[in-house]
Amino acid sequence: MRKALVAGNWKMNGRAKVNGELVAQVLAGLDAQVDSDSVDVMVFPPSLYISQVKGLAGKEIGVGAQNLCEFADGAFTGELSAGMLSDAGCNAVLVGHSERRSMFGDSDARVAAKVKAALAADLTPVLCLGESLEQRDSGEALNVVAEQLRLATEDLTVEQIARLVFAYEPVWAIGTGRTATPEQAQEVHAYLRGQLQQVDAEVAAKARILYGGSCNPANAAELFAQADIDGGLIGGASLKANDFVAICQAAG
Ligand code: G3H
Repeated sequence: MRKALVAGNWKMNGRAKVNGELVAQVLAGLDAQVDSDSVDVMVFPPSLYISQVKGLAGKEIGVGAQNLCEFADGAFTGELSAGMLSDAGCNAVLVGHSERRSMFGDSDARVAAKVKAALAADLTPVLCLGESLEQRDSGEALNVVAEQLRLATEDLTVEQIARLVFAYEPVWAIGTGRTATPEQAQEVHAYLRGQLQQVDAEVAAKARILYGGSCNPANAAELFAQADIDGGLIGGASLKANDFVAICQAAG
């Protein structure tokens, strides 16, 4: 009942020329190999290139932003608001990615404010959750992600929570080549869905929960075969057209 979603987070990579080549190759690959009825595909380029990628991506690839400011307008030098991202053609935005949380001061409170700002501009927040290696090793993984989820959504209505996409990204698996096993990921995804069930059973059943962290063509199918994994948030492998298309194919 849940349509898979594969989202490529380009992080701070790309230039106009390579973006154009990458999008063209991904489009050709999707056209040849991926059933668009069974998987949605999105990319999250650096904000400067959103308009460029939006112009190239057509209807087959949704375009989102990697970050937003929680405020609507004003004296916030260097920031971009949800309204501006929407204006540029985005329909979604990553919120709470671990790189933002650890390097740029995105606290749980700021993550919650950014989720609200995104919703107010009709952007789909892709809410990222995940534990550190230390937290996993001390047996806290489930509690950590549940608390991140609670703090990001506690002021939202059920209708608003229904508009979110979730991404479980164990910090220790991001860019490390060490992916979570399908069982480890499934355990957390099922737990998160259980937390959402306490909010609303239908919202929980329909929520798309993506896995992210060293996902690649070799491990994607097994991860996506898990009952509560609805696709992936792909970093490094989204920069290689063949790998990204293969991952999309594995989700379809
Ligand atoms: O947003 C994507 C994640 O951080 C995963 O990145 O696939 O390079 O590990 P990765």
